[in-house]
Amino acid sequence: MKVTIIGSGNVGATCADTIARGDFAHEIVLLDIKEGLSEGKGLDLWQSAPINYYDSKVVGFTNDYSKTAGSDIVVITSGLPRKPGMSRDDLINTNAGIVKTVTENVIKYSPDCVLIIVSNPLDVMTYCAHKVSRFPKNRVMGMAGILDTARYRAFLAEALNISPKDIQAMLMGGHGDTMVPLPRYTTVSGIPVTELIELQKLQAIIERTKVGGGELVKLMGTSAWYAPGSAAAQMVEAIAKNQRRVFPVCVLLEGEYGLKNVYQGVPVVLGKNGIEKIIELKLNETEMALLQKSAESVKEVMGVMDRLDG
Ligand code: LAC
Repeated sequence: MKVTIIGSGNVGATCADTIARGDFAHEIVLLDIKEGLSEGKGLDLWQSAPINYYDSKVVGFTNDYSKTAGSDIVVITSGLPRKPGMSRDDLINTNAGIVKTVTENVIKYSPDCVLIIVSNPLDVMTYCAHKVSRFPKNRVMGMAGILDTARYRAFLAEALNISPKDIQAMLMGGHGDTMVPLPRYTTVSGIPVTELIELQKLQAIIERTKVGGGELVKLMGTSAWYAPGSAAAQMVEAIAKNQRRVFPVCVLLEGEYGLKNVYQGVPVVLGKNGIEKIIELKLNETEMALLQKSAESVKEVMGVMDRLDG
């Protein structure tokens, strides 16, 4: 199992670190345009192998895509992160060009890989990679749902004073402020969360989750990396080990949930072929309206990308 991570910034390096610790890949390649960055981070990570006890070989290269050849899974983290005051959509002008070039280079050397996009604006960058690669839709997906549900679960664990391990949640829609956390599909070891928390508190947690990325940008002056990097690594693991795990993942919808030609986070089964199945929930009217609103906002930015593309 060869895994390549494009972009050796904080998200890419955290993703590589998590995958390496999982010890299921024989080779992990880091690639970046910044001279020496990938070589350095790759070497540093490899020197942590005797301590963290894995034998996945981690190596880094500067912009040499031939070194990524034959990758089974490629994670794209390239692009600018947000600065305070920016929305993810504000990144489109810069990041669309970057993701396009990166995808073209990646598919030249790994025509059969599964692509996992992490660059923002997430849903539209997934569209960009899909458009450029022309891969079947099961092999192009975006990471956002695992991150957004992780934030939601972490906030809930804190409010309920219980282990985050015991909170299961589903969240749908785009990776933006219109994302749709679903209290009806949130449980604490099988107990509906609504039996354990007041509605008002739950609503406040949902609102905080929606702007969870922004909260971190405000604190740090740049966007987050530990949770995003490990979330992408969890998707890589599910595919690499053919785990058939159920996660919210960004994928092209072609009629599911009554939505067409739009990329949205929905529950899927992740296995060796990438997206093995899209799970269609029976949403109620309110939930469906929220999902539609989220899809509309993603579609708008997809339109911006199409215009950039000429
Ligand atoms: C976040 C960025 C990575 O949500 O989109 O933290």
